[in-house]
Amino acid sequence: MRQLTPIFWVVQACLIWLTLVSASPVISDLSDPNVSALQARDTKPFPLRILPLGASITMGYKSKDGNGYRKWLRQQLRYAGWEVDMIGTLKNGTMHDNDHDGHIGWRIDQIAAHAKTIISQQPNLILLNAGTNDALQDYKVDTAGKRMDSLLTYLFDNIPNTTIILSTLTFNGKNPELGTDISTQYLELAAERRAQNDRLVIADMSTFIQWDQLVDKIHPTAAGYKEMASVWWAAIQEAEKEGFLEAPKSTTTYNGTISKTREKQLDDSTGDPSLPAYTAPPQPTITVSNDSTRSGQWHLWTVGVQMIMVCIALFYV
Ligand SMILES: *[C@@H]1O[C@H](CO)[C@@H](O)[C@H](O)[C@H]1NC(C)=O
Ligand SMILES: *[C@@H]1O[C@H](CO)[C@@H](O)[C@H](O)[C@H]1NC(C)=O
Ligand SMILES: *[C@@H]1O[C@H](CO)[C@@H](O)[C@H](O)[C@H]1NC(C)=O
Ligand SMILES: *[C@@H]1O[C@H](CO)[C@@H](O)[C@H](O)[C@H]1NC(C)=O
Ligand SMILES: *[C@@H]1O[C@H](CO)[C@@H](O)[C@H](O)[C@H]1NC(C)=O
Repeated sequence: MRQLTPIFWVVQACLIWLTLVSASPVISDLSDPNVSALQARDTKPFPLRILPLGASITMGYKSKDGNGYRKWLRQQLRYAGWEVDMIGTLKNGTMHDNDHDGHIGWRIDQIAAHAKTIISQQPNLILLNAGTNDALQDYKVDTAGKRMDSLLTYLFDNIPNTTIILSTLTFNGKNPELGTDISTQYLELAAERRAQNDRLVIADMSTFIQWDQLVDKIHPTAAGYKEMASVWWAAIQEAEKEGFLEAPKSTTTYNGTISKTREKQLDDSTGDPSLPAYTAPPQPTITVSNDSTRSGQWHLWTVGVQMIMVCIALFYV
């Protein structure tokens, strides 16, 4: 019987340590409560050129002032120090900066067909709420996630470095189970997209806005729209924390800055809109069994080497 050398045990101990380290969960360093602390206006490094994209809920249909969530969210962003220019091919609502691309009754495929007319504006942030009409019309609900996936690919390919906030659907009282089905597909899609490092964050509208906050079983009440602003705001903060947000590109109509004069024209208020308190659920992730991250590979690798070492050791015993 042959004595095992001390080197064997040192190597083995190192491998066990590596295994434990690589298998332990990655600890987030984003827990600083002061990250989202209040700051003076115009303190962020670049403006947000925001495209609100979707259907009637994006437009703010059935809201008294026609602004829906958009005015609340814009005010919150200004209050937090972001310069903001909302863009889109439509203008609705009493707010000054009232551009958007929310088309009444449109499904995902119709929004996708329209997308090519938007890309020249190169938004660095897209707020995407689409699919409610697919649910209401019972239109190929099984493949709604696939259609959304194609739209995301088109937007990411044609608007480099843009960040997309993908909204799950608010309740609808007509085909609620189809809405839930689509939201579930979006969560899976988001998990896959995030796993491949796409600049995408989920805004989970499906739980905060309740049934009694709808005026016609589809469109939110004033309180519901304000809660939507809270959910978007939480998602935008998440995108900022994750380092997704990038300065907007210069285009033929924008040079990437907003002059003070222009800003004054666009602003309604930069005061605290006092959005309803909201804590977002964690972003969706794919299951560990499909884990192909570096730590997952390390883990497998070290386990494999240890098994070989044990075999060698047994051979010598
Ligand atoms: C947050 O900011 C306040 C005021 O600037 C400071 O007193 C406090 O220590 C900070 N907290 C952390 C966790 O950094
Ligand atoms: C929204 O604005 C468009 C023009 O951008 C106008 O044609 C349409 O009537 C408006 N819709 C509502 C519901 O205000
Ligand atoms: C996208 O962002 C990265 C990192 O900030 C940068 O290096 C790259 O040039 C950007 N790409 C485009 C097309 O702007
Ligand atoms: C962008 O255009 C504005 C006028 O529209 C001008 O005041 C500003 O200096 C320009 N900024 C850059 C970086 O070219
Ligand atoms: C995990 O992988 C299996 C088989 O490769 C696949 O069927 C499943 O959809 C994957 N799950 C997720 C969440 O990606």
